[in-house]
Amino acid sequence: MDATTRIEQALASAIDSVAASGCPPRLAEAVRHSVFPGGARVRPRLCLAVAAACGSTDYAAADAAAAAIELLHCASLVHDDLPCFDDSPLRRGVPSVHRAFGEPLAVLAGDALIILAFEHLARSLAASPERLGPLLLTISRSVGMPHGITAGQAWECEPRVSVEDYHRAKTGSLFAAATAAGAQVAGADADAWRVVGDRIGEAYQVADDLRDVAASAQEVGKPVGRDALLNRPSAAGELGVDGAIDRLRQLVKGAIDAIPPCPGRDKLGEVLMAESRHIMPKDLAQRAA
Ligand code: IPE
Ligand code: IPE
Ligand code: MG
Ligand code: MG
Repeated sequence: MDATTRIEQALASAIDSVAASGCPPRLAEAVRHSVFPGGARVRPRLCLAVAAACGSTDYAAADAAAAAIELLHCASLVHDDLPCFDDSPLRRGVPSVHRAFGEPLAVLAGDALIILAFEHLARSLAASPERLGPLLLTISRSVGMPHGITAGQAWECEPRVSVEDYHRAKTGSLFAAATAAGAQVAGADADAWRVVGDRIGEAYQVADDLRDVAASAQEVGKPVGRDALLNRPSAAGELGVDGAIDRLRQLVKGAIDAIPPCPGRDKLGEVLMAESRHIMPKDLAQRAA
């Protein structure tokens, strides 16, 4: 089964297990709206790619970790779009969850997805407690404080923050969890792989900042020009477009150089290079080539 099918099936099965009879119907609907249709699914694909590169055959554990990570990512987007954060009416080309269901259900859908991520992981790995504990730690660290997504979003409430610290926490942390969890299911060294995820995540946020200044809302399925409007630290704002493209290139190279020795090292490097071209706004892709 290909990675996309595995990811979509794991997500559907996690949600079916809770959006079940007896659940408030609009909460169930808001949760589904938050996860389907998906975006790039880049974090779970990375998790599965690392597990495969390390030679793992424990597909069930890899699928559970990948799904948990994507559920947490979807939750972060639902909360990020709320009026008290980025106040975004659009996500993945459709109305954001609070626009479609109202703010109370958007807050609750985000909360429910965070809890579901851990519940799904615990249920899927109930027979392998020796695997479950380390995976729970890796994934929870990436969304909490002091360095996870919660901290990343909280930096927006501080008078000063470096763009690197902000990016590492709000975006890099979950990518680091994706690579570390992929390594863990394969029994490989999670810390060595965390560095790869950190750098890819930072590169991904630099690309997102570039899309915010150089892409159209139609291309990205969400509003653009928001970083300047909301006064958010942004790689494009701080380094300029060319400087941000250089930074993106350095980060991708750094990520590929950091891939630890493993059976699928070369192939994974090629995949990461291809992804890095794919995430650039179309108009800038040529300039960066
Ligand atoms: C958006 O993430 C938020 C960032 C951290 C840049 P994605 O660009 O991965 O969003 P989806 O899941 O594809 O919609
Ligand atoms: C969001 O960052 C990162 C999260 C942790 C949700 P952004 O605010 O830059 O992402 P978009 O542009 O809304 O997708
Ligand atoms: Mg934001
Ligand atoms: Mg946002």
